[in-house]
Amino acid sequence: MSSSRLKKQLLWPLLATALFALLLYLLVPAFAPHALSVEQLRALPELQQAQHARDAAVYFWVNTLTKIALLLSLMFVAVRLLGAFFFDLIFPIRKGREAPSLIRDLFSIVAYILIIAFILKHYFALSLGALLSGSALLGVILGLALQDTLGNLFSGISLHADKPFEVGDFITIGRHAGVVESVTWRAAKIRTLNNHVVLVSNSQIAKESIEVAPRDNANARLVFFNALYSHSPTKVIQVVRDAIRETENVRRAPAPVIRIRNLGDFAVDYEIKYWAEDYVLQNDTDALLRQRIWYAFKRAGLSFAYPTQTLYIERPTPVASLAADEETLTGRLSATGLFAPLNADELSQLACASRSHTYAPGETIIRAGDKGDSMFVVHHGHVAVQITDNGQPRTVATLGEGDFFGEMALFTGEPRSAHVVAAEETEVLEIGHEAMKHIFDTNPHLAESLGETIASRRAGLAASAETGDKKEVSAGLISSIKRFFGLD
Ligand code: CMP
Repeated sequence: MSSSRLKKQLLWPLLATALFALLLYLLVPAFAPHALSVEQLRALPELQQAQHARDAAVYFWVNTLTKIALLLSLMFVAVRLLGAFFFDLIFPIRKGREAPSLIRDLFSIVAYILIIAFILKHYFALSLGALLSGSALLGVILGLALQDTLGNLFSGISLHADKPFEVGDFITIGRHAGVVESVTWRAAKIRTLNNHVVLVSNSQIAKESIEVAPRDNANARLVFFNALYSHSPTKVIQVVRDAIRETENVRRAPAPVIRIRNLGDFAVDYEIKYWAEDYVLQNDTDALLRQRIWYAFKRAGLSFAYPTQTLYIERPTPVASLAADEETLTGRLSATGLFAPLNADELSQLACASRSHTYAPGETIIRAGDKGDSMFVVHHGHVAVQITDNGQPRTVATLGEGDFFGEMALFTGEPRSAHVVAAEETEVLEIGHEAMKHIFDTNPHLAESLGETIASRRAGLAASAETGDKKEVSAGLISSIKRFFGLD
């Protein structure tokens, strides 16, 4: 409990204490009847004797009740101070965590019962135990009235002893699911995925079965999708595995599992089992995975199945495609600086040989260290070239429409030098080794401009590394490009 909360909690009991103390010393004496000796009292007429007895009784009750009120407010202050001392100071030091609210509540309840017992005994000579055991009727009334309350209290105590879940865990109970925010002597407070607060009483928790996803646990989720029977499961699984590899909030280890769940009526049903970094973000993560699958399917020419069991006759209709036609592809390639020297025929051959792919924002197009035998031209969108710096991705360049990448590995045979990630939905044209070799055979001078580009990109990659004389590096590259493609 913070000190400002403690101050707030103490404010009213302290004010009440001051008020009752004032009443006791200023107001209550005004009720005191004149002190009379027994002889004086007997000498009074009967009417005045009765009046005096009434005044004495009023004074007695005003005095006693004010004292009880003062005592109660003082005890309030004492219980709150003691609670703060034990549960905000001692408990966190000894246990290293916050004190559970149930223990605080129990402490207060026991303390108040003791105070009431003390007041009954001291002022009215009544024993609480004897009162409860002696009066069967009172016991029945109290038992009935407190049935639910006591049920919750005892369920709360057993919850604390069992500890099936803790604050911060994600639990599902009945139709409610959310993160546990607190467990009091009455109920558990759950914050749902819609940011609503649900209070589930302890006795209900004790009755129902609870599913717990502990805070520090690797909690798994299932996401379902389907594919046509005509697609090979090996291909589908491979495509989906690659597509979801670097999805946010999906743990790298254990790696997601993709498997066939069912051979359905009209489709092969698959499931992805993934382990979430933060289980509360499950809906966003499931949605992102489905999005990644859609794009990966599209790139790989895979299709989801239509839900039908009867004969499905479809007249083929031209499907709007993201891929551009040959003319626009040729236009895109001629606007790429590298291919500017090519003639119309060569450009159109290159356009025919290229394949168009669409990537979702954040998807990796090239992974550093992979083998590469093709290069890419950005047709629509943007990509970020990234290297790993102290374990964190760092962008060294952003390439837009008409820029090319992936040429380093293609022309030198070395592994990919950087990650290339789609910065938005991006369409790229992939040109393979064979097509480029063909172009080099007829345009050997392209090797020079490529050598220069690669040399300056390498310099950009090695921020502080000695890259040597750029001209020398570029000359070395040009001859290795020529060697790689078998040119003289
Ligand atoms: P490659 O090594 O095949 O794969 C990663 C690609 O990122 C690389 O080819 C280049 O095309 C590109 N790349 C690397 N460094 C830079 C840079 N400094 N500027 C622009 N592009 C780069």
